[in-house]
Amino acid sequence: MARRLTGILKDGSGGDCVAARIEDYARRYGGAAQDSLDERKTDYRNFENTYYDLVTDFFEYGWGQSFHFAPRAANESFAASLARHEHYVAHRLGLAPGMTAVDLGCGVGGPLIEIARFSGARIVGVNNNALQLERAARRCDEVGLGHLADWIECDFMRVDAPDASFDAAYSIEATCCAPDKKGVYGEAFRLLRPGGQMAVYEYCLTDRFDGADPGHRRLKAEMEHGGGLPDIARPHEVDAAVRDAGFELVEARDLAAEAPPGIPWYQPLTGSGLSFASVRSSDAGRRVTHGSLWLLERLRLVPRGTTRVSALLNLAAGALAEAGRLGIFTPMYFVLARKPG
Ligand SMILES: C[S@@+](CC[C@H](N)C(=O)[O-])C[C@H]1O[C@@H](n2cnc3c(N)ncnc32)[C@H](O)[C@@H]1O
Repeated sequence: MARRLTGILKDGSGGDCVAARIEDYARRYGGAAQDSLDERKTDYRNFENTYYDLVTDFFEYGWGQSFHFAPRAANESFAASLARHEHYVAHRLGLAPGMTAVDLGCGVGGPLIEIARFSGARIVGVNNNALQLERAARRCDEVGLGHLADWIECDFMRVDAPDASFDAAYSIEATCCAPDKKGVYGEAFRLLRPGGQMAVYEYCLTDRFDGADPGHRRLKAEMEHGGGLPDIARPHEVDAAVRDAGFELVEARDLAAEAPPGIPWYQPLTGSGLSFASVRSSDAGRRVTHGSLWLLERLRLVPRGTTRVSALLNLAAGALAEAGRLGIFTPMYFVLARKPG
């Protein structure tokens, strides 16, 4: 499952251009000011693609093939918690054999493969990142689920598929990358047949976020900078965008706030963790990775710029963990919406 450290950014992720691409990303991010934010939104396809070309190997190395968080019960493994979070989407959408769903921003296919296997539905993965899509399709074939999957390389703001061609739509921690929420939900609305449902895990600032608090503002900026995000929304903005796109809002709630006692979603970024994946993603694990990469970069065993990418991800991880601990951010604002008809 995991990549070797020396394989990071070696094949297909930029090779010798890593230093130039991380510089390009830093320039595109520009800062937390409004004009930089506007530019990130206008230029979102390049901004996102540059980010995911750089970080995909790190995500697979430290986290696995499902690039999302999950509520985790006591005694539940990291892998089981991720799968349960994915199964919940399938369950709420009522996915079953004979149905077709679209996965908007499907990453390297971890959730799509799990949801296809769990539900028997056919799933079409949409992603504008060619490197990720190629890995997703290859893995899906390797596990014998190719007959239940299709892939479209395109922007989820303009999906290359006919109106009303899907029974269901879902997106797991990907619409947070959209430059405009109403735009991406509107595209899901167009793709759904009347009566079809959309389920989303959205990134949101919670009511505890105080825009006047410099510490909160810094954490928001670091999550956006390190996470390749244009702007993190508030729950009421998400709800309004879902309705403005034409949907009936069936349910919207923060799953992190109601999680039973267990292991908080941000724990893999802080504690020692129990699984191999969470050891690597923990604070101590990331320090070891960062130090090793620093050495490997000097020895020219990984491309120049790799350590800067690692630092960028550590910025995001630290901010996510602190924002989670303070309760000012959630990666699992769950939305279920229905297209009337
Ligand atoms: C945090 S990852 C989540 C991936 C996947 N849903 C998962 O949980 O493993 C966000 C994904 O959204 C994709 N993405 C970002 N902007 C996109 C866009 N405009 N069109 C299509 N995909 C996009 C990225 O390439 C990445 O795969």
